[in-house]
This record gives sequence, structure tokens and C-alpha cells, in this order.
Amino acid sequence: MKKKRLIIVSNRLPLKVSIANGAVAFSKSEGGLATGLDSLYSDYEKHWVGWPGMYPDNDEQKELIQKELHALHITPVFLTSEQIQLFYEGYSNSTIWPLFHYFFAYTHYNPKYWDAYQAVNRIFLEHTILIASEDDIIWIQDYQLMLLPGLLRKEIPTARIGFFLHIPFPSYELFRILPEREFLLKGLLGADLIGFHTIDYMRHFISSVYRILDLDCKINHIYFDKRVVNIDSYPMGINYDLFHNAIERKGIVKYINRYRRQFGNHKIILSVDRLDYSKGILHRLRAFDSFLNDYPEFRSKVSLVMIVVPSRDNVEKYQDLKIKVDETIGAINGRYSDMTWVPVYYFYRGLPFEQLSALYNYADIALVTPLRDGMNLVAKEYVASRQNGTGVLILSEMAGAIVELIESLKVNPNNIEEIKIAIYNALIMPVEEQRERIEKMQKVIKKQNINKWATDFLGELELAGNKQDELMKKIITSDKISQLKTNFHNAQNRLLLFDYDGTLAPFANDPLKATPNEALNKLLHKLMLVPNTSLVIISGRDYTTLEQWFPEKAIKLYAEHGAFFRENDLWIKNFTSDELWKDEILLLFQKIIDKTPGSFIEVKNSALVWHYRKTDSWLAELREKQLIESLVYPCSKLNLQIMRGSKIVEVKVPNVNKGICAQQMLKLKNWDFILSIGDDTTDEDMFKVLPEEAITIKVGRASENARYSLSSYKEVLKMLNEFIT
Ligand code: UDP
Ligand code: G6P
Repeated sequence: MKKKRLIIVSNRLPLKVSIANGAVAFSKSEGGLATGLDSLYSDYEKHWVGWPGMYPDNDEQKELIQKELHALHITPVFLTSEQIQLFYEGYSNSTIWPLFHYFFAYTHYNPKYWDAYQAVNRIFLEHTILIASEDDIIWIQDYQLMLLPGLLRKEIPTARIGFFLHIPFPSYELFRILPEREFLLKGLLGADLIGFHTIDYMRHFISSVYRILDLDCKINHIYFDKRVVNIDSYPMGINYDLFHNAIERKGIVKYINRYRRQFGNHKIILSVDRLDYSKGILHRLRAFDSFLNDYPEFRSKVSLVMIVVPSRDNVEKYQDLKIKVDETIGAINGRYSDMTWVPVYYFYRGLPFEQLSALYNYADIALVTPLRDGMNLVAKEYVASRQNGTGVLILSEMAGAIVELIESLKVNPNNIEEIKIAIYNALIMPVEEQRERIEKMQKVIKKQNINKWATDFLGELELAGNKQDELMKKIITSDKISQLKTNFHNAQNRLLLFDYDGTLAPFANDPLKATPNEALNKLLHKLMLVPNTSLVIISGRDYTTLEQWFPEKAIKLYAEHGAFFRENDLWIKNFTSDELWKDEILLLFQKIIDKTPGSFIEVKNSALVWHYRKTDSWLAELREKQLIESLVYPCSKLNLQIMRGSKIVEVKVPNVNKGICAQQMLKLKNWDFILSIGDDTTDEDMFKVLPEEAITIKVGRASENARYSLSSYKEVLKMLNEFIT
């Protein structure tokens, strides 16, 4: 069987291209995204779209590179030096990177950066659609391409699009600072599934979405643009076996022996990072300095081996950092070294796998102390490499990896004192304890390896896509409307059951302002002129309002979700209960209102409603939970129903719901055309009781109980207008 294609789109390809003596040469890219995804083995046919990390001199070179890369299923995206300057060094690494890593003061804003970011995302779009079809899985990676899911969705609406963010998603308070925050969120929401390394990043993202875009968010689903976007956390893993079994390779043993000769019986602390201010390199050096100062007995016995991989060296903050790192290391070595001992061995370059792996195996301690890090794979690689079970990992609590590596020595990377003590504790840790900790951590990362990470993500992406297809099928097309219109006119007895707010009219901040306009009145009137048509409005509104808004007696009205109905000129009570309960419940509502600006109470004859449409969503969610919690006991005692609706909580008398109203209507005649439309959870009761052949339409997020969906009240009006033209 033909393999399904997986198209990975990332700014950085897993390999860097260069031209040597007229021939194309490849080298491995550094950084967690490229190293991790490169070692992914999967059942998919893997294709990659990305920047090759260089500028070809001419078109022939470009073609040559293209040809060689295509053979490897890679589509290169060539960018000009100006684009790299503004998009990569600019918006990606001088705006988003610092802000998302909580380096607020390092964040640069420049409209040109944003222009370039948009333009380059579009270039990635063009390259992706050249090779992608709707049968492929498209997996977009990281913060450089946050607009791409939305752009792709427009081009291939039915595509399976996943997005994974490899860096932290900051708290709403930081994210909201970005002038382009709305566009970035909407761009991301083009995906079917958005993945983060940790629950915290996911939580921050959801809270930003609903506070900035005010969208309907349910636990980990966001309803946007007629689609459900799934959000979840998937901690990225490593190729465990590759690192764990590396020691069995001859080439690696050769390096280990070389290190043994070089370092003798000195203990080795290893640190490996890209040169990045988020990695806490300077804090780490200060801590080591302080350690040597406070524990002189360890001088000449311990060395710190620092691998610092050059990164983003055209960005000013990275250049500054390089100077400071050089100076600090120079100062430490100058202060403590002697003829036989160097405190800090410093390598400013990337190492090939054999050397790096040999170091992971050789080092007694790994010191991984980023100030912020999406995940940090180095920590996992060190643990995996310890085949004999010894070794100590000191790990920052600000790295995503800490969630899984709880047996590490956890430190606050800003607390120099704490790092210093952790180094001491690591050096004196008994071998038994080392083994116990390492083995526990190995168990975790062996399971949550790179393949599991990708399989989990891609499996859920396919599932989310399938669900999306089901939802899409429910959306009423114009062909379907024509067919419904024919059925409507061919029928003998027509029953129209409509909700009001959100179905026939938009929501207003002040509910009393949602009055039906002239166009709607005309429409309803015309519908009723069609012979043998019964038009019923079943609303949650009180009867005084409905009476005022719909004086035309031919319209059957149900008020307060069916607690009252209008018959001829009379409003008839549809329940038996006294009103004594209201005071007790009112008191609880009042308490919540006092603490929730923008919310208010509506007192109906059969119900009390707390409205929070104008309230900040986060606050509203909190207060809603508190209110419901406080209502549970009194409502069960008084036999009352608690109901959550669209930005409301309602307490009402029992045995009153829209389903009962619909059933009453069903009994009246032998209807051969039933149309029921509603947008709220209360309308589900109506959908549920109607016969299978009824045309049930959910406005907004599609529902299991309704056969069809329309995105807004505007589309409802458009459809009904078609019926009568
Ligand atoms: N790495 C490498 N060569 C080196 C040093 C590091 O390929 O000389 C790799 C390392 O093995 C790891 C990645 O770079 O897989 C760094 O990933 P991490 O998640 O720790 O940090 P990032 O660079 O993504 O912020
Ligand atoms: C981090 C980012 C990746 C990036 C890598 C290396 O891991 O999340 O998107 O590729 O750093 O950075 P670079 O700027 O060299 O691609």
C-alpha cells in the first residue's frame, strides 16, 4: 500500500547546505527541532520544506541544490539576505524569541520585521502548496511560521494541518504586549491540532485566545471559523536508543578513552547549549565561579566542559553575550587554573555526534540551567546516554523537560547559591542514589521518545481531521438550501420552531436591545403567509418582552424556555411551583455580581438568570464555577434546575424545557415539514425530541443532536429569505 505523506515545514532544515569546490555539501543542523525531528522514524513518507541555511550565488547553484535536495524529499525555501535579516534575525529572533522566553526588555519592534514575517510565511506557503495535497498530513513547526497554518487553511481548506510550538508560550500578560497578537493567534488557529511541550504553555495559549479573540474555548477545543481546533501538550522526546546504545560504537569508545587520558581523575561537569541568553550560560558560570570560591577543596579536582554552539550571530544580543561569555570564562580560568588543571574547557563550536555522545558518557554531571527553555533535549540526551546508570543531572525548573525529569537535582537558574549547592551535592552523591535517579528518568524518556511524541501528535491530528470532516459535512451548502426550499413548498403541513437570540438576531450586550428589526418582522410575516405554516418561537426570554416584540398573534410563542406559552391573547403558565425559592437563590447571584463587573441578573417569572456577556472571559469562567458550586445544594433542596447557556447561568423550575414545547407542538398535527433552528445548549432538548426526518439546524458550533449547522444568525436569515423568494 502506498505510504501516506507527511510534510514537515520548518524554518530550519535538519541539514545545512554549503557549496565546496562546486559540489553540494551537507552538514547536520543543531537545535532541538532539527535534531529531534530528523531522527524520527515513522510509517509516513517524510518530506521536508525549509530554509537550507545559505544563499546560493547564482541560479545554477540554486538548481543544483534543489536537485540534490529533492532526491532526499526536501524542498528548499531560498530566502534573500534581507529576508533573513528582517524575518529570521528580526521578527523571529528579536521579537518573538525574547518575548516568548520572558526577556521582555530584549524585545524589538519594527514594522519592517512584521512585514517580512508575513511575506516569508507566504513564501513558505507557496513552496508548501507546490508539493502538498489534501491527502497529505502537513506538520508546521515552531514560532517562525505561526501564520502559515491560517494561510494554508485558505488554500487547502480540507487539509490536515498540525502545528507544534517548540518554545514556551508565554503568559497572556506578556503575549498581549505584541501589536500583532491577534494575527498570530488567528494564524495558528488555521491548524486542526496545536501542540505544546507542556500543559502550562497550552494553558497560556488558551487563555490568550479567549481573552484576546473572545472565542468559545472548551477545555482543549477552540471553535474558530466553523472549525474545531484541538490543543494539547506533547512533551518532545529523543531517539533514546541512539544515545543509549552509542557507547557500543567503536568511534565513541575511542573518544571516551581520549577524554580519560586528558582529564585523568578530574570530575567533569558538562554543559551543552546554543549560544543563547535564554540558556543561562552566564548565571551558570557565575555559579561555578562561586562554587570554586566557596569549596576550595574541589579546585584541581573538577572541570566544567562547556560546549557552546554558535547561534544567530548576527543578532546584537547574541553578539553581546558571546563577548561576556568569553570574558567570564577568561576571568575564571585566570583566577583559579594552575599548571595541571583548567577550570573551564570552552568549545565555541558544534561537535559531531560521536564526540558529543562520548562527552555525555564521560561526564559525571550535566549542568543544564536555562532561564527559560521550551523543552531542552540536551538534558534527555545526557540521561539516555548513561548506560551504566551513573551520573547526575542538574536541571533548571524553567525548562519544559523538568516535568518529566523529576529525579534530577532541580534548581532555580537565577539562584546562583542554589546552583552552587546543587553542584556540591551532585559531586558527593553516592553511586547508589545516582543509579536510582538515572534509572527512573531513563524509564520515562525511553517511553516518551521521539517516535512516541510524533505518533501521538500525528494520530490525534488524523483523528481531529476526521472529526472536522464530520462537522464540515453538516454545514448547509447552497444546493442543500435549494433542496430544502423545494421540500418546504411541496409540504402540506409545515412546522417552524425557532429560537430567538443568536438564531434570528445577534446577541446584544444589553439583552433588551436585541429587538427584532423590520427586516426580520417582514421575513416572519411572509413565512406565515405560506398556507398551512405554523411558526413557533421558543425563547428563553420572559413573556412581557416577547409579547412586545411579536404582537402578531399568528406566531405561537413560548417564553422562558417553555414555562409560559401564548394562546390567543393569553399567557398560560406551563408549570406548578411557588416563587418563594427566588430570594434564597437571588442572594447567591447577588454575591457573584458584586465581584464580577459587567455581569447582571435577569429576573424572570420562572427563572433567575446571571448574564456575563460583557465580563472578561477568564473572570467569568471563574465566577461561573463558583456560582454553580454554591447553587448545587440549594437547587437540589428546592428541586430547581441549573442550566449553563450562552454566557449565562440560569436557575429555573424543573420540567420546563424546549423539548417539552416541541413535543406539545408535534402532537397538534401530522407535520410533513419540520424545521427547527437554535444556537444554544437549551435548543439541544428541542433537537433531541424531533423525529429523524426533521431538519434540525445548530447555529454556531455544530452539535451531535442536530443534522445540520449554519455558522451564524445571518446565514439563518439568508436561508429563510430564500424560502420565500
Ligand atoms: N547539538 C548538536 N551539536 C552540538 C551540540 C548540540 O547537534 O554540538 C544538539 C543536541 O544534541 C540537541 C540540540 O542540539 O539535540 C539542542 O537542543 P535543545 O532542545 O537542548 O536546545 P535548542 O537548541 O533547541 O534550544
Ligand atoms: C530552537 C528553536 C528552533 C530552532 C533552533 C535552532 O530549538 O525552537 O526552531 O531551529 O532553536 O535555532 P536556529 O535559529 O539556528 O534555527
